[in-house]
Amino acid sequence: MGWTINDIPCQEGRLALVTGANIGLGLETTRSLAQKGATVIMACRNRKKGEAARRQLLTEGLSGLDLLELDLADLDSVGRAAASLNEQYGHLNLLVNNAGIMAPPRQLSAQGYELQFAVNHLGHMALTQRLLPLMASQADARVVTVTSGAQYFGRIRWDDLNWTKRYDRYGAYGQSKLANVMFALELQSRLQSKNSSVQSFAAHPGIARTNLQPAALASGGNHWEALVYRLMDPLFQSSSMGVLPQLYAATAPNAQGGEHYGPAQLGGLRGSPTQCRIAPAALDPQQRQRLWILSEKLINTHT
Ligand SMILES: NC(=O)c1ccc[n+]([C@@H]2O[C@H](COP(=O)([O-])OP(=O)(O)OC[C@H]3O[C@@H](n4cnc5c(N)ncnc54)[C@H](OP(=O)(O)O)[C@@H]3O)[C@@H](O)[C@H]2O)c1
Repeated sequence: MGWTINDIPCQEGRLALVTGANIGLGLETTRSLAQKGATVIMACRNRKKGEAARRQLLTEGLSGLDLLELDLADLDSVGRAAASLNEQYGHLNLLVNNAGIMAPPRQLSAQGYELQFAVNHLGHMALTQRLLPLMASQADARVVTVTSGAQYFGRIRWDDLNWTKRYDRYGAYGQSKLANVMFALELQSRLQSKNSSVQSFAAHPGIARTNLQPAALASGGNHWEALVYRLMDPLFQSSSMGVLPQLYAATAPNAQGGEHYGPAQLGGLRGSPTQCRIAPAALDPQQRQRLWILSEKLINTHT
């Protein structure tokens, strides 16, 4: 049998922050970490939804759950969240960059960037950069960035990151998820070159039953898209299976910074976590550095 949540080592004394913790894979991540004794800061964009999720976990007998307001579509909100965590806790052991959106109609973030690139990539990069100093001297500090199989068809549109021309809902999702894995690997290489003990990982869930696909359909899908999802339905695994690769990256003693985990079966769509293929663009240091510098410029224009 493959790795399961029973294999997660004791997390007592560890402080974790999970983005998008109110539902789906973020909620599962929070639940599993709290079950193993971690204190988990549930970073949610909507306080009401976050509070409802926290109450649900408390009724399951869990404790050590805190709530933090975080809207990744607004870099000012990211700055406020990081400052508040610093003030309240002053340290962090684990950051799980989990929140995400998929395939909305073209929209812009508060700072004017294409929404999927902004929420999935730029907001998480900005958050990570703000929180790394709090992780620097912590035992077994880890940053886990959640990507997707969409990285394999993703392409960085260097000449039009904002999709001002010919917006493609899934193309923009692919770009943002490729950016996630490029960021995770580039972060690992930068941490290593500074002899930092913090490690950076990437993980993807395959296809898991969460609110991601229903939300994509509701916001911009047509009946063809609905039909494709219906046909794919038998392939979807539960969110408690889909969450395993990111939990493995977050907790397994054998996991090594710079690695990428995903499900082992059906070409990475489902199954137990294993180390898996990385999109070629993310293996290219020049492309990773280019994206890093560009992203930093976009983030710093507004801080
Ligand atoms: N499920 C899959 O099959 C699948 C496949 C590949 C990759 N993934 C990745 O897995 C991660 C988790 O997704 P999921 O499947 O659990 O989806 P989900 O059920 O839709 O959950 C997404 C979470 O992200 C939050 N979020 C959205 N926009 C945000 C913003 N601006 N600021 C802060 N939080 C925001 C959502 O908050 P609200 O509830 O307030 O909207 C929600 O908590 C994502 O990165 C996704 O790309 C999922």
